[in-house]
Amino acid sequence: MKWHAIFEKNVIVLLVGILVTIAIGGIVEIVPLYTIESTVERVKGVRPYSPLELAGRNIYIREGCYVCHSQMIRALRDEVERYGPYSLAAESMYDHPFQWGSKRTGPDLARVGGKYSNEWHALHMADPRSVVPESIMPGYSFLAEWDLGYEDIAAHLETNRTVGVPYSDEMIENAAADLAAQADPDADTEGLLARYPNAAISDFDGDTGRLTELDALIAYLQILGRMVDFTDVTAEDLKQ
Ligand code: HEC
Repeated sequence: MKWHAIFEKNVIVLLVGILVTIAIGGIVEIVPLYTIESTVERVKGVRPYSPLELAGRNIYIREGCYVCHSQMIRALRDEVERYGPYSLAAESMYDHPFQWGSKRTGPDLARVGGKYSNEWHALHMADPRSVVPESIMPGYSFLAEWDLGYEDIAAHLETNRTVGVPYSDEMIENAAADLAAQADPDADTEGLLARYPNAAISDFDGDTGRLTELDALIAYLQILGRMVDFTDVTAEDLKQ
């Protein structure tokens, strides 16, 4: 108790005490970041987003979908039964910023990829009540009307590379072409699939001949949770 009095009676000592306490908190938070390479275990299948998926992700962030949707399935039984295998750290290692979220007005979207058809998503985005009558989600019908602007997509890939996403020179060079090819079922997608395995290729919004923001958003939703193959695997199989 007498130590306590020293701090209370001398403002300089109190100040130093506060700084030391805050510094400990800071170190505890910052030091683990230097070991992030070994903390986040690499997992087979996790790859950088394709240009179209990345463009869709940018729209997801712009529209604030994260305000109502989380993208992180916790390792709790009720969550795993509802949404599927719990999220692995590696699954969001190329997310800048991550979309874990903290609010679930709507369901978690970490494994929504492949759950519905593209048509379902197109209808749901235009008017959620047309497919889920009791839905309180707002409609985003304008996304189907707005052409996707992607002149700067290569720059988006490059920016992600600056913060550690392993986009190769080849990926950056082909960014615009890959983006257009993913939304065109008639395009030559061999290169695209070699660069981004498992990418869904389709005219996502059903509006042939037009590349809209809805195409990009659905391409993004359809890859969520689909990079890692959880069927019939052991923890050993997932290691890269
Ligand atoms: C005001 C809150 C709110 C916002 C903002 C919102 N949603 Fe939703 N979302 C919901 C609710 C509630 C549901 C559940 C009912 C339904 O399926 O429509 C839902 C359902 C969904 C589903 C179906 C999930 C499933 O597993 O059935 C998808 C996909 C989805 N939202 C995507 C989006 C996207 C993309 C955006 C941003 C463009 C968005 N949401 C914005 C509330 C919201």
